[in-house]
Amino acid sequence: EIRGFIFDLDGVLTDSSEYHYRAWQRLADEEGLPFSRKENEQLRGIPRRESLLIVLKGRKCSEVQLAELMERKNRYYQELIQRITPRDLLPGVAELLAELRAAGLKLALGSSSKNAAEVLRRLGIDAMFDAISDGHSVSHAKPAPDLFLDAAAKLGLPAAACVVVEDAAAGIQAARSGGFLSVGLGPVTRVAGADAIFPDLKGIRLADILAALKAL
Ligand code: BG6
Ligand code: MG
Repeated sequence: EIRGFIFDLDGVLTDSSEYHYRAWQRLADEEGLPFSRKENEQLRGIPRRESLLIVLKGRKCSEVQLAELMERKNRYYQELIQRITPRDLLPGVAELLAELRAAGLKLALGSSSKNAAEVLRRLGIDAMFDAISDGHSVSHAKPAPDLFLDAAAKLGLPAAACVVVEDAAAGIQAARSGGFLSVGLGPVTRVAGADAIFPDLKGIRLADILAALKAL
């Protein structure tokens, strides 16, 4: 029986993954590192430090330099998220969250981002969540299951009673290895392995998700 939902944030509830991309692109341009939207796909769901190491493509950096680069990327990202308002909720998100709550299901956030609480507040949906697990919560990031297990524990639910909603390959892997049901959003190439796949949450109701999962 499904009793809770754990939502990823960036790319699921809002298009902040676009802002992460722009911030990385700006940093890469300044540093003369080749980087593209296509390469950015590898960074979906991946924490700041691991992302930077991918962007650096083996370039050697001291810890001090790494810290400065991460700080700079985050500054660019934070400039971009200032403009987020409730209008930036992706289509279908507000309706689905309201329906899940009305159905008595527990809701948690499971995001790798250290900026998750601020983005959720700017979106105006922080009060809808019973628990938040974010980039401050665990040390083993996605694709390890720890973040989602942390969220489920905060909800007081076993993994098997929770559905994870994700847009990243690393997130689907994390959900699977933690024993969660998973809903993947986006191209099948990205979220292959999810128990149910939709292009996005537009028009998706609880019944659609349950029907897709029962068809397993
Ligand atoms: C994830 C994003 O949600 O959070 C990644 O998909 C991002 O792109 C990661 O790198 C960490 O975010 P932050 O805000 O802590 O740098
Ligand atoms: Mg995501």
